[in-house]
Amino acid sequence: MSHVLDVDFISFKDVKLAPKAAKTGPSTTLVVLAGADAALGKASKAILGEAAGLVAKAAHSAQFKGAAKSTMELLAPQGLGVDRLLVVGTHQKKKADPQAQDGLINLGGFIQGKLGRAAKVVIVFDAPEGEHDAAQAADLMLGLKLRAYKFETYKTKKKPEDEASEPAKVHIDIAVANPAEVRRQVPARQALAHGVNLARDLVNEPANILYPVEFARRAKQLEKLGVKVEILDVKAMQKLGMGALLGVGQGSVRESRMVVMRWNGLPAARTKSKSEAKAPIAFIGKGVCFDTGGISIKPAGGMEDMKGDMAGAACVVGLMHALASRKAKVNVIGAIGLVENMPDGNAQRPGDIVKTMSGQTVEVINTDAEGRLVLADVLWYVQHKYKPTFMVNLATLTGAILVALGKEYAGLFSNNDELSARLTGAGQATGEKVWRMPMGPAYDKMLESQFADMKNIGGRNAGSITAAQFLQRFVNDTPWAHLDIAGTGMGSPSSDINSSWGSGWGVRLLDRLVADHYEN
Ligand code: BES
Ligand code: MN
Ligand code: ZN
Repeated sequence: MSHVLDVDFISFKDVKLAPKAAKTGPSTTLVVLAGADAALGKASKAILGEAAGLVAKAAHSAQFKGAAKSTMELLAPQGLGVDRLLVVGTHQKKKADPQAQDGLINLGGFIQGKLGRAAKVVIVFDAPEGEHDAAQAADLMLGLKLRAYKFETYKTKKKPEDEASEPAKVHIDIAVANPAEVRRQVPARQALAHGVNLARDLVNEPANILYPVEFARRAKQLEKLGVKVEILDVKAMQKLGMGALLGVGQGSVRESRMVVMRWNGLPAARTKSKSEAKAPIAFIGKGVCFDTGGISIKPAGGMEDMKGDMAGAACVVGLMHALASRKAKVNVIGAIGLVENMPDGNAQRPGDIVKTMSGQTVEVINTDAEGRLVLADVLWYVQHKYKPTFMVNLATLTGAILVALGKEYAGLFSNNDELSARLTGAGQATGEKVWRMPMGPAYDKMLESQFADMKNIGGRNAGSITAAQFLQRFVNDTPWAHLDIAGTGMGSPSSDINSSWGSGWGVRLLDRLVADHYEN
C-alpha cells in the first residue's frame, strides 16, 4: 500500500488561505462543489469572497454548468491564496437510485482523481443542492482514500517527471459545518479503507512472493487487532481428512495451509447459564495463490492473471481487518483455503478420486476445476466446527461467470432467500452488485460420476451453476451463499474509486451486510 493520504476535518470558519510568500513550497489546491448552473453553496461563497465572481465569469466563458463529473480549473486565481481552484460539478439530471448510497464515495474518488500533484488540499464540502450529513462527509474521505491507492511495491524507478513533483505526502482538509460530528464517523471509514486496500495488496502481489505460507503469515498479523488466528498445516489437514484441498496442493513445492480467523465482538454473557457465546457468522474464501490449471493446464496467454485466484481469500482477510479495526459488535469467523495449483510429477491427475472431509468422494475430471475442491473442505470444516448462523463464500470460481455477467455484477448462488435479499440490498447500497443465479436438482444431476460420488465438473453448459451445485453438496441446512467473483475481484476496469488491478471487491459489500443486519 503506498501513497500516504492524510485527511482531516475542519470547520468552514477555519479555512485559511494564505498567499504564498515564496515561489517554492507545496502546491495548494482549493476544491469547491458546484450545483446546477455552476451555483456555489453558502460556505464556498464565503470562503471565496471576491473570487466567487471570478468563478461565475469563468463558468460562463467555459460553459461550465455544474454537471456531475465535470470540472473547471482556475490556475492562480487572483486574490485567493492558492495555486489552483478546482470547481467540481455535482448536479445530476437524473435522480440517482434511491437505494444507492455510494454517491459520496464516488465523488470523493472522482475528486482524488483530479487532484494531480497538489500536496495541500482544502475541500469545501458544502452542498450546493440539498444537505450533506456527517456520514456523507466521512464517505467522501473513504472515496479519496480508495482512489489514492497505488500498488508500487516493485517499482524501483520513478519517471523523471514524477521525481521532481510528486509529493511524498498529501494533506487534505475537508471543511464541513460540524467537524466534531464527522470525526465520530471517521474510525469506521478508516477501517474500511484500510481493509479494502489490504485486500487489493494481497490480490496484486505476485505468486512468487505471496504463496500459501506467506499468505497465512500476513493473515496472522490480524492478531494485532485482537483477531484470533489459527493456521492449519498439511499434517493438521491430513488428520481432518481434507483430501480435496490437499489434492489440489500436492503438485506444488509450496505447502498448503488453511487459516481460521476469529473476531469475537460480542463477549460471552457472564452468567453461567448463558455462558455460551452467540453463534458466529462465517466468511470463507478461495485462496488459490496461483492457478496454472494443474495437469489440465491453462493456455499461456493471460495466465499471469491467475496470481489473483486468491481474491476471495483476500476479501475475507480485508473484511476481518475492517471488522476488527472498527470493533464490530458481532462474532465472525473468516476461513481461507490456501493452495497453489501446479503441474508436477506429484500433481493429481484427471481421473483421480479424492476423499473430502465430509466423506464424499470426488472424481477429478479436470484439475483446473480446483477452487471448488478447496472450498468443499473449508465449507465442511467451518459448518461443523463453528455451527455458524450463515456462511458466505467468495471465489474466483469460473470463467463462465464472466460470460454471463461480465465485470459489472458478481454471481450470487444461495440456498436462502433472506440472505440473498440482504446481499442484494448491500450490493445496491455499496455499488458492489450481485445478481442471483438459479440452482436446482437438474443442474446438480450434471455432477454424477461413473466412479465416485460426484465429478468435479458438470460439462459444457451452465459452468458457473454446476460449480455452485458442487459447493452446495458440502453445505447442509446452514443458510449459505456463494459469490462467484471471477469477474469482479481482479482485472477490474478503472472507476472513480479504483485504479488498481486487484479491486478489493466484496469488502465494502460484506462490511455493509454485517453492519445492516448482524451487529447488535
Ligand atoms: N480460477 C479459475 C476461474 C477464473 C477464470 C477466474 C478466469 C478468473 C478469471 C478456475 O479455477 C477455473 O479454472 N475454472 C475453470 C472451470 C472449468 C475447468 C470447469 C474455468 O472456468 O474454465
Ligand atoms: Mn482453475
Ligand atoms: Zn482457480
